[in-house]
Amino acid sequence: MEIILSPSILAADFVKLGNQVGDAERAGARWLHIDVMDGVFVPNISFGFPIIESLRKRTNIVFDVHLMITEPERYIEKFIDAGADIVTFHAEATDNTDECINMIKSRGKRAGLAIKPKTPIDAVMPYLDRLDMALCMTVEPGYGGQEYIKAVDEKITALRAAAGKDFLIQIDGGVTAANIAEPIAAGANVIVAGSAVFNGNVRENMKELDAVCARL
Ligand code: DX5
Ligand code: ZN
Repeated sequence: MEIILSPSILAADFVKLGNQVGDAERAGARWLHIDVMDGVFVPNISFGFPIIESLRKRTNIVFDVHLMITEPERYIEKFIDAGADIVTFHAEATDNTDECINMIKSRGKRAGLAIKPKTPIDAVMPYLDRLDMALCMTVEPGYGGQEYIKAVDEKITALRAAAGKDFLIQIDGGVTAANIAEPIAAGANVIVAGSAVFNGNVRENMKELDAVCARL
């Protein structure tokens, strides 16, 4: 199974953001995970459009935008205008999941639906046919550097069984080279890593994660 690694810039040094993204790309990253937090859906605020627009001018890497914002339908168009290639929003954040998917797909972009660790996969199932990706959060959304919640592996197994072999199942939160094997064995094929990529030497870290994935 092909594994995609999506480094999360939440853990980057924002003073050196352009260089760090360049390092990740040179180390082979094809996706970049971009965490948008509104201080309402999650108890933290990250960044918004200007950062995405600035980065978009410098790179063609796939922008994997994870919206941790309430009522994402208010802003999906603007995130696509800013440069998103994949827009993932939370099932818990909207009553208009169908409308959100339509907004993303009608612009020719890929749509992802995210669920928090305690949200059952039932929240995703009705939309599987129209989604490009499901994101199973493996920490409570809001902060980088938290510990991986192992109980989520069972949801990944169930989702993989329901979604078939080619569907994108993303995990996000607490991933390290030491614990990456279990979620992949369970069926995850898109791995987000923030601290594990951007804390320390980006190239070395990417190499280590890639090496583990290659052995699986
Ligand atoms: C958490 C974010 C994650 C975060 C992961 O709410 O969605 O993408 O950056 O960071 P690490 O890999 O450090 O847990
Ligand atoms: Zn994320």
